[in-house]
Amino acid sequence: MESKLTGTAALVTGASSGIGAATARRLAEHGACVALVARRRDRLETLAAEIDKAGSTALAVEADITDRTQAEAAVQQAVERFGRLDTLVNNAGLMLLGPVAGADPQEWDRMIATNGQGLLYTTRAALPHLLQAAEEGPRRVADIVNISSIAGRVAWNGYGVYSFTKFGVNGFTESLRQEVTQRHVRVGVVEPGGVATELGSHNKPEIRTEMIDPFYQQTEVLAPEDIADGITYMVTRPRHTAIAELWIMPTEQL
Ligand SMILES: NC(=O)c1ccc[n+]([C@@H]2O[C@H](COP(=O)([O-])OP(=O)(O)OC[C@H]3O[C@@H](n4cnc5c(N)ncnc54)[C@H](OP(=O)(O)O)[C@@H]3O)[C@@H](O)[C@H]2O)c1
Repeated sequence: MESKLTGTAALVTGASSGIGAATARRLAEHGACVALVARRRDRLETLAAEIDKAGSTALAVEADITDRTQAEAAVQQAVERFGRLDTLVNNAGLMLLGPVAGADPQEWDRMIATNGQGLLYTTRAALPHLLQAAEEGPRRVADIVNISSIAGRVAWNGYGVYSFTKFGVNGFTESLRQEVTQRHVRVGVVEPGGVATELGSHNKPEIRTEMIDPFYQQTEVLAPEDIADGITYMVTRPRHTAIAELWIMPTEQL
């Protein structure tokens, strides 16, 4: 069946779990060929097989996006396989919470590298292909969707360096939007909050007990598919429709 993204190609970082995996499924359902990028190859291959079985096309690309060479190679592999790139979803992320006093600076480095540098490397590598797709592609538009967080708008105690990275994503998104909007590359940001994924699982046990588990026990959290639906709308929306920013969170967070 012809659908809105038929004939286009997308690359989703962090496609091995959570919001990224759900987004890759949705974009494939809408007809896009999807490059699945993350470090856990086994998970990517399982998802690629599932997407292929459902009648779409997916490519598993093992890459650590904090390494610039690997981020560039991931984009290159996608373009070589699909011949084009119309959509980039910068979703890979890491959230390690806790007080600044006594913090582990290696945790900071990993978050800054994943949420900041990895997103920049992937965007830089993908941009020439997205500009070309916007000029010549079937939809005459290309999309970058950056996954930030409510913590990129609002600061909470204990979210310090995670917020530092996500506020940076928001600023970068707005600046890049102004740079390429006239060339029909739409750049937008999705700011989720409270989604049931593996995001909190990388924290130290005491942080999970004090900061993460109570939130999930007290809040009716969202499913990754809820965010994937928002991202998919941003990519499939009519060419003349602008969405700069999309907050999606549990009602209790408003
Ligand atoms: N869940 C929420 O409530 C929530 C709220 C606000 C914002 N977000 C944002 O949503 C995005 C997705 O998170 P999620 O909730 O779906 O969490 P998740 O299930 O933990 O997914 C994170 C993804 O990022 C990938 N990743 C991490 N480091 C990477 C690296 N160096 N290179 C390549 N891929 C890497 C992981 O894959 P590998 O480990 O296989 O590499 C995984 O697929 C993140 O940017 C997060 O900050 C989530």
